[in-house]
Amino acid sequence: MKILILNGPNLNMLGSREPEIYGEQGIQELNKRLKLEGDKLGVEVESFQSNYEGELIEWIQRAGDDYDGLIINPGALTHYSIALRDAIASIELQCIEVHLSNIYQRESFRHKSVIAPVVMGQISGFGFDSYILGLRALVEQNQSKL
Ligand code: DQA
Repeated sequence: MKILILNGPNLNMLGSREPEIYGEQGIQELNKRLKLEGDKLGVEVESFQSNYEGELIEWIQRAGDDYDGLIINPGALTHYSIALRDAIASIELQCIEVHLSNIYQRESFRHKSVIAPVVMGQISGFGFDSYILGLRALVEQNQSKL
């Protein structure tokens, strides 16, 4: 089983970006943790980050051929990108939306996710653990399908 992790705009700034909200560890640390968890679960994990909506969409469009699941933190695109939503809706892949912060505890413009209706589920508010929990959920869901 091979899982793609996609991170959207500004998530390359983890560690220095609003650390009181997003924590003090960088994206390399996150990717390391996800690789370790993948090893424990016996799945291959690949991570990619982009500040460009179109690039994320291209990764999503290609993901169906190469991966068995997708975990995405779309960053601010969560709240308005119909293009990203349509890309996710257009593929068969099981997909989980994750957020470091609890978006429902923050500004009201973050309370709406246009992505949530086209994914299996959303995990929000657990820092790096949101991704770890997402990975475990994808693996569990995939195994219960077998
Ligand atoms: C975020 C929440 C978004 O509202 C914000 O724009 C981000 C990060 C999170 O992981 O908490 O860039 O997706």
